[in-house]
Order: sequence, then structure tokens, then C-alpha cells
Amino acid sequence: MPALLSRIKAIAFDAYGTLFDVHSAVGRHAASIGPDAARLSEIWRAKQLEYSWVLSLAERYEPFSLLTERALDFALARCPEVDRSLRKDLLAAYRTLDAFPEVPHVLERLNTHSLRTVILSNGDPGMLLDAIASAQVADRIDLVLSVDSVRTYKTSPRAYELVTSALQVRPRDVVFVSSNRWDIAGAAAFGFKPVWVNRSGMPEEYPGLEPIATIPDLTVLGRPDD
Ligand code: LAC
Repeated sequence: MPALLSRIKAIAFDAYGTLFDVHSAVGRHAASIGPDAARLSEIWRAKQLEYSWVLSLAERYEPFSLLTERALDFALARCPEVDRSLRKDLLAAYRTLDAFPEVPHVLERLNTHSLRTVILSNGDPGMLLDAIASAQVADRIDLVLSVDSVRTYKTSPRAYELVTSALQVRPRDVVFVSSNRWDIAGAAAFGFKPVWVNRSGMPEEYPGLEPIATIPDLTVLGRPDD
């Protein structure tokens, strides 16, 4: 088992951006979208997350699938050259995002250890089930937890607590893996051992709420030993 995973009881993954490529929805329709494709995808993701944080701070909740729709509408309004009739196809593609290529193998390897494998996501249960089914990884995940059951989003401690409550473990017994640096900050504040997947070489931020390790993709987690 990789050294990163020694002396823990569970490994919890963020879903969107970590296991599933959020930009693959736009990527699938890039030719029809045209030159604004990358910008559309960036705005879509940024607004989806902003809505989750603003609602949580205001102690309101609406499901992530609805925030995803509203964020796409905002992104389409900001990119008026893009054909709005693609809206339906883009939302359908978001339900069946591509998993990053190493994901099935890494989850399979993790299953050979005595570790619980968990997903903790802002996604609501329906969209998570669709994504997991289309990536064909359902049998490699022990538990799928959605913040929908506590009706608030990460980085609320109530969201991370879903993992420790469900598994009856302490925060320090859990390695939490996310590609979102803000999510790593929340996980660190909660007491998890956070591992940041920095796929796109983003600069470090959130001093004082650091990951225990930064990795370029998930491959290292599936290696036999360090
Ligand atoms: C998630 C989003 C925030 O899966 O990436 O929780």
C-alpha cells in the first residue's frame, strides 16, 4: 500500500473534478460550441460552485443538479455566440461525465486493501448514481455520500462529518482526496488527512489549511507499495 495510505481506515474522494472530468461535458460538444467552448466550461463550473457557497453561507439549500442548470444558463448568457439549443445535450452530458483514465484501476487496487472507499460529493444522489454507473465503478466504491442528506455544501463541517458518522471513524482516520483546493482547505479544517490532486498545476493557496500531500493525478494511490 502506498505510504500515504498507511494508518488510516478510509479513503474518501470528492467526485466532480476529482474522479469525473467536469470539462468533458463541454468537450464532447466542443465542435458545435465553437471557439468559446473552454470559456463556457470555466464559467459553468465557477458559477456552479459559487452558488453552492452562497446558498450555504445564507443557510439555504437547493440541489446541485439545479445549481448546475442555473450555472449553465448563466454561462450561456455570458457566451452569446454559443447555440442555446445545446443546453439539453450539455446537461445530459453532465450526467455521464468521463472518469479520468486512471480512476477504474486505482479504485480496483484500493479495493484490495482493508480500507473503506467512499465518495463524498456536493452532487445530489441522482446525478452521482448516473455518473458512477456510466463510469462503471459502482462495484469499486463501498459508500456514496451526498451532502443532500444534510442540505448544505462543502466546506461546511456538517458535510465532511457525513463520512466520520457513516463509518464511525475519527477525522484523522480518513484520507480525503480532492482536486479542488478549496475542498482540501475544508477537509484540513475538519481534521481529515487531505491529498490534493493538482492536475493542472494550480498555485498553492489557503495557507494554514494545507494538504498532507499533492499529487499530479490519482495514479500513485493505486501503486502497490512505496
Ligand atoms: C463535488 C464537487 C464540489 O463533487 O466537486 O463535491
